[in-house]
Amino acid sequence: MSGPWVQLPQRVALTGAAGSLASDIIPALLASGMELRCIDRVRPERDFDVEWAVCDITDRPALSAALSGCDAVIHLAGIPLEDDWDRILKVNIDGTQAVLDCAQRLGITKAVLASSIHAAGFTPIPADGARVPDETPVRPNTFYGVSKAALEALGSYYHDRHGMDITCLRIASRFETPRDARMLSTWLSPADAGALFLQALDKPSNGYRIVWGVSANTRSYLSAAGGTAIGYEPQDDAELWAPDLVGPGAPETLQAADWDQQFIGGIFSSPFPPRHTPQQSTEIQETI
Ligand SMILES: NC(=O)c1ccc[n+]([C@@H]2O[C@H](COP(=O)([O-])OP(=O)(O)OC[C@H]3O[C@@H](n4cnc5c(N)ncnc54)[C@H](O)[C@@H]3O)[C@@H](O)[C@H]2O)c1
Repeated sequence: MSGPWVQLPQRVALTGAAGSLASDIIPALLASGMELRCIDRVRPERDFDVEWAVCDITDRPALSAALSGCDAVIHLAGIPLEDDWDRILKVNIDGTQAVLDCAQRLGITKAVLASSIHAAGFTPIPADGARVPDETPVRPNTFYGVSKAALEALGSYYHDRHGMDITCLRIASRFETPRDARMLSTWLSPADAGALFLQALDKPSNGYRIVWGVSANTRSYLSAAGGTAIGYEPQDDAELWAPDLVGPGAPETLQAADWDQQFIGGIFSSPFPPRHTPQQSTEIQETI
């Protein structure tokens, strides 16, 4: 929870604000009294009664106008699955550079970036019950994972070169409830996601850090140290769902596959990583 050093920004821009992760974060930020500027290619039906800027993050003049007047940015916009390299490059890598470049030029000093477990997805699951450190080296399992490794590198660059305070959150599996055996280890609950992003805005000193985005799961193999260091205290534990997912009556399809037991990236580390549907890809193509 917020410490005595509270340095919460007042006016926060949120890219990818129409997405599922944003719907966890927006209520947490509003409850803490922040003003929000929500940025996305689309405006959702549920707009939380806050300010919206409908723009593509690859449209730099429009993005710059949308970020103007804010003192921190949370960057979520992007393709959240595997896709073709040209789309990943344009939206996830060039788009992230656009967000950080516009923010820096506008004098925004704090950014929280949505990285992913897939930046390090080919990291083996520790056999001895040890936990994977927050800053474990990148081992991307997809072009998507490569884009999140690039996001972390861009964050590091904007911290070292321009002095911005940067937190990269390596989100594991944000779902309403855990969906399969792997998520007993990797689940991030909606409530914990909101708390995590709020804490990432509230820190004692300027820095660059990588933090796992995961709940307090009994079976977690991801370190909790980085979260603890920023004051994140997750409340939820996927173990509550264990009887449905791995109990005697659990459907076979929910059981851990080979890749779930080998690599922290689960199915994204398999030969069949989940991809955008052709329709979603066509919509993204329109921006290229
Ligand atoms: N949900 C998870 O479990 C998870 C795990 C790891 C990382 N992440 C990351 O968190 C972020 C948010 O994920 P999510 O689950 O909410 O995904 P989502 O697809 O629900 O939301 C992404 C949002 O980004 C917007 N967007 C895409 N391209 C854009 C563009 N060019 N310009 C402006 N807006 C654009 C989309 O319209 C959408 O509203 C993503 O960067 C994703 O990679 C999510």
